[in-house]
Amino acid sequence: MIESSTKKGYCLRQVPDILDEALLVRGLNTSLLGRNVEIHSSIGSTNARAKELALNGAPEGTVVIAHEQVQGRGRLGRSWVSPPGKGIWMSVILRPQLSPQQASKITIMTAVAVANALKRSAQIEVGIKWPNDIVCGGKKLCGILTEVHAEPEVIHYAVVGIGLNVNLSLEDLPDDIKDLATSLKIEKGKEFHRVDIIKAILQEMEKGYLQKLNDDGFAELLKEYERRSAILGKRVRVIGIGGEFSGYAEGFGEDGSLMLRLDDGRLKRILAGDVSIRGENGYV
Ligand code: BTN
Repeated sequence: MIESSTKKGYCLRQVPDILDEALLVRGLNTSLLGRNVEIHSSIGSTNARAKELALNGAPEGTVVIAHEQVQGRGRLGRSWVSPPGKGIWMSVILRPQLSPQQASKITIMTAVAVANALKRSAQIEVGIKWPNDIVCGGKKLCGILTEVHAEPEVIHYAVVGIGLNVNLSLEDLPDDIKDLATSLKIEKGKEFHRVDIIKAILQEMEKGYLQKLNDDGFAELLKEYERRSAILGKRVRVIGIGGEFSGYAEGFGEDGSLMLRLDDGRLKRILAGDVSIRGENGYV
């Protein structure tokens, strides 16, 4: 935005980071994702709201976004820090033709989509830490929480929650996650417009969802996931309910599992469900 002021020449004023439906829909070239949008100034959790909408028949592609979440939720029952106006706190409703056992594919597709979208809209190269973290500079930038409502054979709906730290400063991060978490602002030294990044994510996600969740497409997607992996070929610690063990991350299965080479030479298949991963000497 350029403002003129008599005899003082021109001054550049920053365009504010406004997030509203009109701005979001303008130029959004998707056919499904984001065609139906709900934006809240404050909400408990966008995932909780999206699940409520999905149960009541909201169309596939519906997106719930909030400026602030007061009960943001992460994986494994953790909370998710979601201060007002500083991040992308968003959930997308999908109705994929997958079995519940294949639900991890949705998280893999979303992680690749977010990584590609960040490259395009924020000129940043990020890594993916299995199963659902987007990382940068060895710290967590974004988390994905996929929740499905399913019967044994069929998924009725999936809600994909994305929590992306955009304009948080170090002071916005609670002490206990300061060493583990980061934001685009911290990494790039400048602020970003959330709406541009949201559009890029929805576009990349739609591409992945419509074109890559079949057998051929998924093999290609998995290659992209591996290429961006922050743990592949590295030694990691797996922390689960049944205890902790270490090994080398050797690859990922079609079902989204991690193939871990244990110290005794055995290859162990680990499902994403209840575990978290740490690098040998830190978060990644
Ligand atoms: C994780 O890494 O543990 C997943 C974090 C997911 C956070 C997002 S923010 C938007 C959506 N609503 C929530 O309550 N959680 C997800």
